[in-house]
Order: sequence, then structure tokens, then C-alpha cells
Amino acid sequence: MNRSLTPEHLATLVGQFPRKPAYRGLRQALQELIGDGRIPLGTRLPSERAVSQTLAVSRNTVTRAYVDLVAAGFATARQGAGTYAAVPQDRQRAHQHALRSHAGAQASEGSIDLNCASTAALPGTAPAYERALERLPCYLGGDGHRPTGLPALRALIAQRYTQRGLATDPEQIMVTSGALAATAVVARALSRPGDRAMIESPVYPNVIEALRLGGARLVASPMGDALGDAGWDLDGIEATLRQTRPHLAYLIPDFQNPTGFLMSDAQRARYAAALQATRTVPLVDESLQAIALTDAPIPLPFAAHAPDAITVGSVSKLLWSGLRVGWIRAPQALMDRLIKARLQLDLGTALFDQLVVTELLDDSEVLAARREQLRQRRDALAGAIRERLPDWRFRLPAGGMTLWLQLPEGSATQLTANLETAGVHVPPGPMFSVEGGADQWLRIPYVRPEAELIEAVGRIAEVWARTPARPTARHEGARAVIL
Ligand SMILES: Cc1ncc(COP(=O)(O)O)c(C=O)c1O
Repeated sequence: MNRSLTPEHLATLVGQFPRKPAYRGLRQALQELIGDGRIPLGTRLPSERAVSQTLAVSRNTVTRAYVDLVAAGFATARQGAGTYAAVPQDRQRAHQHALRSHAGAQASEGSIDLNCASTAALPGTAPAYERALERLPCYLGGDGHRPTGLPALRALIAQRYTQRGLATDPEQIMVTSGALAATAVVARALSRPGDRAMIESPVYPNVIEALRLGGARLVASPMGDALGDAGWDLDGIEATLRQTRPHLAYLIPDFQNPTGFLMSDAQRARYAAALQATRTVPLVDESLQAIALTDAPIPLPFAAHAPDAITVGSVSKLLWSGLRVGWIRAPQALMDRLIKARLQLDLGTALFDQLVVTELLDDSEVLAARREQLRQRRDALAGAIRERLPDWRFRLPAGGMTLWLQLPEGSATQLTANLETAGVHVPPGPMFSVEGGADQWLRIPYVRPEAELIEAVGRIAEVWARTPARPTARHEGARAVIL
């Protein structure tokens, strides 16, 4: 289906633009809106005649603005069919809500890949595989089908919730092939075409597409000031819930990706009450929950405040993403629906990987080692940025794996494109933004060894120093809401 924009909507989006000369101001405004994702790619722009009438500018002004937009790569003109929003090749990455590592074929010698918040496995991992191999034979006589997972692992996961203050029966657990797959199963099970799903923005990009593919229309709930303390703008969230009445709300209360915020108990209680008032089911992503980097008390699981919540979790962050093991914790009454949805996607998670996870999940030495490693890496990265890029701003997170950094000026999309040539791969802010924008931000995970992080910051600082100072791409238009 082709998306199109009405001239009135375009007028709201462009708002006041500089008119000296008007064609350049209009082109600049449209370019920013397309570049930020606020006019989605492939959207048909209104006809020149309609725009000239609505904006009260000459037809010539619009024609010239469109021609220049096409010349800059931000639109394509199809003969007789109109003008469509596009982005130049070097910016396309910012519009793909899919983070993936550069490892493998694309990796080049000496390049530093900071796309994904994933670490190498810890030293105890290989021995755990060996122990799991010893246990494997007693499973080989069966047919291997376990759509909800290995009973021993389900019991272990349930026990961990109970220990955190949320009584959980193993029957409430379904093991999945990671938290992203778990999210896709929930989206598929709960969304009917046209349902709305509220999602934090900025957010882990791959989940944006997972929810969309589940059939939901996304409603962004912007996070609060990323440099402040509150994390979530609960007034804004309550208003969004009241106005849009979404069916599902996706949230990452524990060390939010990318901002690193941890939701307090009081915030959880208030958020849960607001969701209950609109009968919105919380889909709580706890992928980063175990990555606490201070000794401060950990709040209760969100589901302890919201009994109808569906929680997804994972071992990817704590142990190793190569294991591909995650889970869903849901109210018993929903399990059948979730199992049916899962069976449309895959029939279960590899039993061997589940056996390995049962070996590692409760290994306190492995867990302590991971936390200590990430604490040191976080501090090394933060220290290097303070030293080499003193005017970049960030908040030191108490957990999780990422710094969310604000540039003093300029475009993160442009900077990250330049960084590719210096062999540093970093995702720009718009990738994390549900509706586009956030082009003054970028995310750096502290997942590589300290020396590599310091080297990366050195290269970033050099590229930054060579980047000509230019005004921040900010524009006073209203934000588009994608429903
Ligand atoms: C919030 C969040 N959810 C899900 C995932 C994906 O996790 P998994 O590897 O378990 O699919 C990530 C990975 O970065 C994440 O940060």
C-alpha cells in the first residue's frame, strides 16, 4: 500500500520555514523531515499545485524545492506518478530498524563493531557446553519436541522470578529462541490487524519491526529527558494511553535500551495503574534486567504490579547471544494462545542450548564476572569520552550495556556515516526512534574490551574534529504520529 501525505499534514509538519528564498527553506524543511523519518520513506508527497495553495507560496517555489530535494537524494520523481520520499544511499541505514553486527563477511581488518550490545562469552561457557553434552544422551531417545521448553529450565526460570518477589509456576514459562523471538510471539498472539501498540521511543530498534510485523499500528511514547533523572515521562504516557487506548504497551523498565534508565517501584506502580485503566496489556522486556552495575536495591518485577503483564527475558546479555535462549512469562490463562502463536513460527528452542543454559544460569561466579567486566568497560568508555569528547553529554547508567550520547551539534547520521570510513561502526539515534528524529544522539555499547573502546573513542574524536561545525538539524514542525 502506498502511503501519501495530505497538503495540510505537510503544512503542519513543515511549520514555519525560512522564506529567503522560500524554495530553499521548503526544501530544507522537507529534507529534515524525511531524514529524521518523520515523513516515512516511500510516502507520496502532495502535488506541487496543492502544496503551493496550502502554503501560500508560488507554484515555482514548490517545483524548485521538489527538484532540489530529488537532486539531494531525498525524493524520487516518478514520471506522471508524483514525488516520493527517499533517502540517499549513505543515510539509508538510519531508517532500517534492524541492528546487526558487522562480524563475518563485512568485517574489515582493524574495524571496531559497536552496532550491537553483545559481548563475547565468558570463560566458563565452553565447560558448560561440555557438561551439557554429557547430559544430552538421556534426551536423544525422545522426539525432541518441547514447544514450551525443557522442564528443568522452565523450573529454573520460574524459581528466579519467585526469588525476585513474583511467585511463578513453571507452567507460566515458555522458553523461546531469544527475547526478540519471544516479543514476536506475543505480538502475533495478541495483535489483531489495526490494533495499536504503544512503544517507548527511543527503543531497541529490532523490536519496532517485530511489533509492526505482528500487525500492530505503533504509537510512540517518548521517554523523558535522557539527561535527567526521571527516565519515563509518566504524564505523557498516561495521556497517550487515554488518547490512543492501545491494546499492548511495550516497555523496558530495567536498564532501558538505549537510555539505560531503571524504573523505580513507585513509577512501576503508577505506570501499571494507568495501563490497567485503559485495559492495555503490558509487554515487559527484561532482557537487560540482570545487568545491574551498582549494589542499589533492585525494584520488584513490573509484573508484580501488573498481574496481566507478559514478560520476556533472555540470556543473551548476561551469558552469550550465541546461545539464542530467552523466555516468556505470562498469566496461565494466556499460555495456550501463546503456544499456538509460537507453533506458527518455530516448534521449539534447541534442547542442547537449553541444557547449556541450565548449567550457567545460576552460576554465581559467571554472573559476578559479567557484571564486573561490564562495570569496568562502562567506566573506561565514559572516561575516554569525558577526556576526548568533553562537550558530548550523557548520563552514566546504573546498569545495562549502553551509553546514550548527545552531540553538541550536527547530525549523528552524518557522523556515523563518516565513522564507517574510520572503521568504527556505531548506530545513529534515528535507528532507535520509532517516528524518526533523535539525530543528535547516538548509542555506544560498552561491550568490547577497554583498550578497544578507548581506541574507538580516539577514532571518533578524530573524525569529530574533522567534521565541519554546522547547525543542528532542528526544525520547528509538529511531530508526526504514526498510528
Ligand atoms: C531490549 C532488548 N530486547 C531484546 C533484545 C534481543 O535479545 P535476544 O538476543 O534474546 O533475542 C535485545 C538485544 O539487544 C534488547 O536490548
